[in-house]
Amino acid sequence: MSVSPPTTWTEPTPSPLLLLLGEGTEAETERGVECPGVLPRASDPGLLARARMAKAELGDRVFVLGHHYQRDEVIQFADVTGDSFKLAREAAARSESEYIVFCGVHFMAESADILTGDHQQVVLPDLAAGCSMADMATLAEVEAAWSAIAAAGLEQSTIPLTYMNSSAAIKSFTGRHGGSICTSSNARRSLEWAFDQADRVLFLPDQHLGRNTAVLQMGLSPADCVVFDPRKPGGGVSRDALRQAKLILWRGHCSVHARFTVDRVQKIRRQVPDVTVIVHPECAYEVAANADFIGSTENIIKAVNAAPAGAALAIGTELNLVRRLATQHPDKRVMFLDSSVCFCSTMNRIDLPHLTWALESLVEGRVVNRISVNAETARWSTVALERMLALPGS
Ligand code: 13P
Ligand code: SF4
Repeated sequence: MSVSPPTTWTEPTPSPLLLLLGEGTEAETERGVECPGVLPRASDPGLLARARMAKAELGDRVFVLGHHYQRDEVIQFADVTGDSFKLAREAAARSESEYIVFCGVHFMAESADILTGDHQQVVLPDLAAGCSMADMATLAEVEAAWSAIAAAGLEQSTIPLTYMNSSAAIKSFTGRHGGSICTSSNARRSLEWAFDQADRVLFLPDQHLGRNTAVLQMGLSPADCVVFDPRKPGGGVSRDALRQAKLILWRGHCSVHARFTVDRVQKIRRQVPDVTVIVHPECAYEVAANADFIGSTENIIKAVNAAPAGAALAIGTELNLVRRLATQHPDKRVMFLDSSVCFCSTMNRIDLPHLTWALESLVEGRVVNRISVNAETARWSTVALERMLALPGS
């Protein structure tokens, strides 16, 4: 999603902002789900070798998927790395692997289970690896919202479009009501498809991705959008406002990307006049509107790879990825857009001890932390996910 062409930069310097950053505050709370069994100690000096040995022993029986926000200690074991769209496709394409070990978060592992065969089992090394945004839309809330839409007489003219960052139950709801899934890398194509099907779209659960795509990319007016707050009666939106809206945005957001501010963008532009500001579309509208480039994690990586040596790039997304890009591009000045440390704490739940434990358990014939979506939910989720995968260009 390009807002304007990246600017170029000619003076190579190290990345002082990144060098200043240490381990620190995390943006989310933990879910407190215990793993069964005994985890290896993080201080075990043989951990790396144990994980390597277990993976080698499993050979082609296991396929490890790693989201870009994973820690370096984990990502080194990934057979494929990617954004959530690429990982969904990769999971669907690995029918020969008995086990898919998903180094990412719960909704991604659920989607992998939905897209893989019955002979395959998906493992999430730590069940506490959830997503606070996905938790912002429960099935009961979404069904209540749909009832409010129906009460306004809009059920037939509205279609749900649901971000990948959602539970399988919400994906299933979407499939049952004629809708599709989208990710940050195909949101525009998906929204265009949705508007071809209906007059109005209910976009779940990330208001920012919905608004950024519709307004910044497709030219809708902010006035075409209303925000449906599941905590308020009727979503806090009158029936008239629902009728007039083209896009009903669910009031959900990512607590990690909510940390990036317009002030910070302006400050970095003052400090580094030739900087290119690159942000994930989960950032707030004002931040995205002030960026030079907006993209999914995979597209952010492509933009950094394509930048010339010496380019100054301020990146607004999760810190594990930004740090990795800074390390991989010592000839570019890769900076983190926030002034403090900002990991996705649930992505960070997957660490080397959990991965080692999951792999060694598989070697011993025990499938731990299996993610399994029930058949009825999977049936309609598959319909919604396959609508996305069938979109032209997907
Ligand atoms: P991507 O689809 O860009 O990988 O994003 C997933 C995500 O959770 C970002 O917060
Ligand atoms: Fe969820 Fe935000 Fe973490 Fe992505 S970065 S997994 S949206 S909490």
